[in-house]
Amino acid sequence: MIDLSCKYLGLGLRNPVIVGSSGLTSSIENLRTIEKMGAGAVVLKSIFEEQIKFESEQFLKSDNANMQSWQEAFQGIVSKTEFYYQEAFEYLTSYAKEHTLNQYLGLISEAKKAIGIPVIASINCSTQYDWQYFAKRIQESGADAIELNVYLLPSDFEKSGTENEKVYFDIIQEVRKFITIPFSLKIGYYFSSLAQTALKLSESGISGLTLFNRPYNPDIDIDTLQVSASNLFSKDSEYSHSLRWVALLSGKIKCDIAASTGIHNHTTVIKQLLAGADAVQLVSVFYKDHSVKSFLQRCN
Ligand SMILES: Cc1cc2nc3c(=O)[nH]c(=O)nc-3n(C[C@H](O)[C@H](O)[C@H](O)COP(=O)(O)O)c2cc1C
Repeated sequence: MIDLSCKYLGLGLRNPVIVGSSGLTSSIENLRTIEKMGAGAVVLKSIFEEQIKFESEQFLKSDNANMQSWQEAFQGIVSKTEFYYQEAFEYLTSYAKEHTLNQYLGLISEAKKAIGIPVIASINCSTQYDWQYFAKRIQESGADAIELNVYLLPSDFEKSGTENEKVYFDIIQEVRKFITIPFSLKIGYYFSSLAQTALKLSESGISGLTLFNRPYNPDIDIDTLQVSASNLFSKDSEYSHSLRWVALLSGKIKCDIAASTGIHNHTTVIKQLLAGADAVQLVSVFYKDHSVKSFLQRCN
């Protein structure tokens, strides 16, 4: 048996194949299977601060949020005659945030008990405070590392490239003040000077860069004239973009690189490693190809 062990984010991995962040990595049962089938590490499903806020807002707008239930749930905040939406929203959001975060911390500590491969948590926050707060709590719950899932679409006409890029550095600076475990940054490719930014990011305290995130993109259904979701899963031809950037950046930047997007078979895994990736992350193939077992076996 060839020794495929490697280091990623300073963690010892038995091989560089990581199951990336998605719904598949949010249950202990799946995590056990992932370990059993030979993955080197796992990135848990992200906890999204925006999602928590959105759900709180939806709840407030829903029929569930009738006056009586509000008065019962938020005595002292909702008066008998008035409905303080903003106050109730803030209260509900902070309650929901704590609740969701605690569930996530539970997943991490359960995962650490259930599996022996490194468990990398993943967060996506929208406020400076929560980036550091979530990261600190996640470290306390025993995660081996954290992937900061920062995806910014530079679509604001008022913001320059420098302003957009500053957001990444601010987040890193904030997080590194509060945690000692390694953390990486998962980014998209919308940068005006990707090589230089990647270099600067790699010098800012992160242990790794994940290239690249692949967000859901909108589409238009021309029959219904509705906006719809497009191509939730990647195709096996989509790896070339990350392959190019892994090759361009490896050996030049000062942190590890995990290749992500479009890695669907063992030949692509090998290509990414030859290009200089320290590890690879796979997601879509596990949704599309139900023989996850055979895939991971081929990689081992
Ligand atoms: C159903 C689904 C859920 C995902 N959820 C997350 C997530 O919670 N956090 C994250 O960072 N990426 C998430 N992703 C993105 C994947 O981690 C990955 O970056 C992307 O799918 C590209 O890799 P692939 O080509 O192997 O699918 C998700 C992807 C899919 C398909």
